[in-house]
Amino acid sequence: MKDLLTLADLTPDEMRHILDLAVAIKQDWKAGKDTPYLKNKTLGMIFQKPSLRTRVSFDVAMLQLGGHGLYLSPNEIQLGKRESVADVARVISRYVNVVMARVFGHADIVELARYADVPIINGLSDYSHPCQGMADFLTILEHKGGFQGKKLVYLGDGNNVSTSLLFGAALLGMDYTIATPRGYELHPASWALAERLAAQTGAHLEATYDPFAAVRGADVIYTDTWTSMGQEAEAERRRKIFPPYQVNREKLALAKEDVIVMHCLPAHRGEEVTDEVADGPHSRLFDQAENRLHAQKAILVWALDAEPQG
Ligand code: CP
Ligand code: NVA
Repeated sequence: MKDLLTLADLTPDEMRHILDLAVAIKQDWKAGKDTPYLKNKTLGMIFQKPSLRTRVSFDVAMLQLGGHGLYLSPNEIQLGKRESVADVARVISRYVNVVMARVFGHADIVELARYADVPIINGLSDYSHPCQGMADFLTILEHKGGFQGKKLVYLGDGNNVSTSLLFGAALLGMDYTIATPRGYELHPASWALAERLAAQTGAHLEATYDPFAAVRGADVIYTDTWTSMGQEAEAERRRKIFPPYQVNREKLALAKEDVIVMHCLPAHRGEEVTDEVADGPHSRLFDQAENRLHAQKAILVWALDAEPQG
């Protein structure tokens, strides 16, 4: 079964392959060509949390691929509350061809994948956001032309998004530096996994507490909200700790002249990124959001072995 629970589930070849597929599918989309690779297929979309990008881009992706997306809101399925995750997996597998789920605890998506007979795609968990990562590396490929020898710098929380960037960079041979406050680092097990992948590609991976040292020579500066969904009770405390990690004019001045700025969105403008930077000439925030559509089409086509022939 081709599940995508984290980018670290992929080999470097699979990661490149899905990116190449995304590039081709996007080209066709731009040329107005139909790509009905998932004709009559149905995607079940289970959400435990709110969403704009994930919900809309998966729904539209299925429509444009000739299939159908079925939105299941947090109130409907109530994963693990109304019935067990295993039973949800067993039942939904009888109706749909593939499932995308956005969950709080990563264990829930692992459990879904364990009991489902169809591919499971992680649409965000507390540990990982692989669809975001795929769209982000597509964006970097388009704007930087490649990954080797390029420096991706993430400032802020060691969270699901920065973990996915760590794995993606390791798979693609891109250098990655993450600067977090003390106590908000990425998990040591994620580093161990990423280092094993990086040994195959030559990616240089680094962690620091110094955001100014981190951004020196950056080709890409990336940030995300300081408080993720589910951590709202910590928001006040985090607002006091994270300001040195804000992406602003001073940080950009230390990076390469042609640095691009990325953010998975939604943004808390004025916190992790200033308006000036988010709306400035280096920002690629909305290209990145668009690329969710193209990257996820490629993930769906890959997961369902529906790749265009010839
Ligand atoms: N970046 C992202 O996943 O956005 P949503 O939470 O709106 O889906
Ligand atoms: N880290 C954020 C990403 C949102 C797309 C969260 O989990 O809320």
